[in-house]
Amino acid sequence: MNLQIAILSGDGIGPEIMRQGLAVLQVIADKYHHHFTFKEAICGAHAIREVGDPFPEQTFQTCLNADAVLFAAVGDPIFDNDPTAKVRPEQGLLAMRKQLGLFANIRPVATFDCLLHKSPLKEDIIKGADFIVIRELTGGMYFGEKYQDNDKAYDTDIYTRPEIERILKVAFDYAMKRNKHVTVVDKANILASSRLWRQIAKEMEPLYPEVTTDYMFVDNAAMRVLTEPRFFDVIVTENTFGDILTDETSCITGSMGLQPSSSIGEHTPLFEPVHGSWPQAAGKNVANPIAQILSAAMLLEHFGLYDEGKLIRQAVDASLEANVRTPEIQVEGGEQYGTEEVGSWIADWILDH
Ligand code: IPM
Ligand code: MN
Repeated sequence: MNLQIAILSGDGIGPEIMRQGLAVLQVIADKYHHHFTFKEAICGAHAIREVGDPFPEQTFQTCLNADAVLFAAVGDPIFDNDPTAKVRPEQGLLAMRKQLGLFANIRPVATFDCLLHKSPLKEDIIKGADFIVIRELTGGMYFGEKYQDNDKAYDTDIYTRPEIERILKVAFDYAMKRNKHVTVVDKANILASSRLWRQIAKEMEPLYPEVTTDYMFVDNAAMRVLTEPRFFDVIVTENTFGDILTDETSCITGSMGLQPSSSIGEHTPLFEPVHGSWPQAAGKNVANPIAQILSAAMLLEHFGLYDEGKLIRQAVDASLEANVRTPEIQVEGGEQYGTEEVGSWIADWILDH
């Protein structure tokens, strides 16, 4: 298969984890005789410094013209600590999501048996947990009308029917391919936007008679994902709730460094780790490249390259089993492997299998 992939490494640890993601894609291409072309483009703080815009038009065009985007992370503390900054790296991320129409963000939550002890949660609670969170990504408070003066500020949590219908459709379709169980997470006891979500979900239920649909308030869901994670199969929720819940669910996996995601929508699909740019670790060769590598696997699977995706997943499992791990998940006294070493170990394993 020929694939044009736009590469957006961004800031912080982005470039170093991306190198490992690309190395893995390259061995897959060689092994299976695919032809992947990589086109790099700038974004985030990096792009602000170069051209004054965190998601420049040229980067947008590169993404639009590609079959897929592999993204790493953006963010830089220089901007976080400067309340007067007019442009911020995160604005680039939001512009990218909006302009590419990436309305559905799929964040899988799964456990690795050999890492169960790394979770702050009890092993018997999380063992076997396997669900996906589908986060609406281009609406809600992130993009609704905002206002701020010295005495008053507000953000508008706005959703329209077509926006809700299309994300719910993604959720029901995923459920049909999984365990046929959708949980709509909302705050319908308080928020009008949530009540519309619930109304539309109930209207759509009969279209998916095989799917069990239930409804859960987000506060309750925040508790249930930690106390009873095996209950869930597909969670679907609005932008802000999804943002918060998926940081929380990363505790189930044991490290943010292990969590990939895909975003799909109107134009080019995008694949990125759930974690951020971890600026303190930049250039230190300590960041876990696995979330990036698994994002590459999700990219391949999106194009139907399931064997290739599976081989990457097996290689990742093998690295964890062999204790070839970055410091945050290494066993006590175990040898510390760097970003680079973990990435090459995984790439070599793929070549040999
Ligand atoms: C995420 C991140 C972003 C978000 C930030 C960096 C703007 O936390 O992708 O979850 O809030 O969506
Ligand atoms: Mn987040």
